[in-house]
Amino acid sequence: MSEYKVLGREDANSIESILADDAIDFGTAVHATQVGGDAIFTWDYERTREGLGKLYERAKTSQWNGSTDLDWSIDVDVEKVAIEMQAAIAQLQERLLSLPNSPLKSWGEEQWTKLAIEAFNWRMSQFLHGEQGALICTAKIVETVPWIDAKYYASTQVMDEARHVEVFARYLDTKLEGHYPVNPALQLLIDDIIADSRWDMTYMGMQIMIEGLALAAFGFMHAFTQEPLLKQLLRYVMSDEARHVAFGVLSLQEYYQGLDGKEIRERQEFAFEAALRMRDRLMMHAVWEQCGIDRKAITRMLFEVKKPGVNPFQAALFSKIVPNCKKLGLLDAGDGWLRDRFTEIGVIEYEDAPDTEVEYALLDAVAQDREAASA
Ligand SMILES: [Fe+2]
Ligand SMILES: [Fe+2]
Repeated sequence: MSEYKVLGREDANSIESILADDAIDFGTAVHATQVGGDAIFTWDYERTREGLGKLYERAKTSQWNGSTDLDWSIDVDVEKVAIEMQAAIAQLQERLLSLPNSPLKSWGEEQWTKLAIEAFNWRMSQFLHGEQGALICTAKIVETVPWIDAKYYASTQVMDEARHVEVFARYLDTKLEGHYPVNPALQLLIDDIIADSRWDMTYMGMQIMIEGLALAAFGFMHAFTQEPLLKQLLRYVMSDEARHVAFGVLSLQEYYQGLDGKEIRERQEFAFEAALRMRDRLMMHAVWEQCGIDRKAITRMLFEVKKPGVNPFQAALFSKIVPNCKKLGLLDAGDGWLRDRFTEIGVIEYEDAPDTEVEYALLDAVAQDREAASA
């Protein structure tokens, strides 16, 4: 694997490195990080990118209002919703429980319920923080992307992300008890994206990687929950997110065509590192710790049950990221470096899952129905 060191680690799966990253404190009141790149003014106002133009038009008519389109009067039975949601990872729990000497063997119903509630709070908290990351990243895209059509579109995404932060914050504040701070693997990735001076890296990190994961996770929760407020909230957010990922794919497909082999390789490495960060983020260390299982023990156990398919959130993540990388030509570019890495971490089997363009068409239909209903 040449001299390349992923995330500066000896080994992508080094438990010590994962735990060291996980111990980083991003502050209690604010976190400041340096923004990289130039603000680009373009004097070319001609509308030449039809695909982006269409997305921009779509975005203008797909705006919804977080305070009036959702029924905030609905009472939420947190325990019930948390348990519904946890059913998504029943198989993973089963596998962790069956490991020899598993500390979970002594758990009774009360502890499993606590885990479900903590995991629910944690997931919603990470969505909230991730949405703020998206808000800041898309504001950065408005500044740094050189194309006028992309500046227009990205500005609509800024508004979308503000709305997403708003609704997740309101759900956490009014329906749940307890927030979690940002997961370090997630914030490390967001900080890298913001620090990078190359404008396309913001798209790669945010629109492809983080929003790819968001779409997958929202889809899961939407499928598992019966709670009407959350279900509606997720549906709305997902129809926006699908458009956001489509924006990323469309922009990068064009831009990558003009890059040379060395530059493409840098994008492959970035994509792989981001994928690992996302994988590490799903380990939910803080939740396990809250439930009395230490970080090192749970990390070991998660590697022992290994196959990413056992964790459906992880499977869903890679079933978005791998096909989107393929669509962008990153999987097989050069000597197929990224294909080899994804093979090594056991996720290459997802390469033919439906990419986001297919999904965008489906989710956008929801937005159209909503418009028709309100017309
Ligand atoms: Fe969002
Ligand atoms: Fe988004």
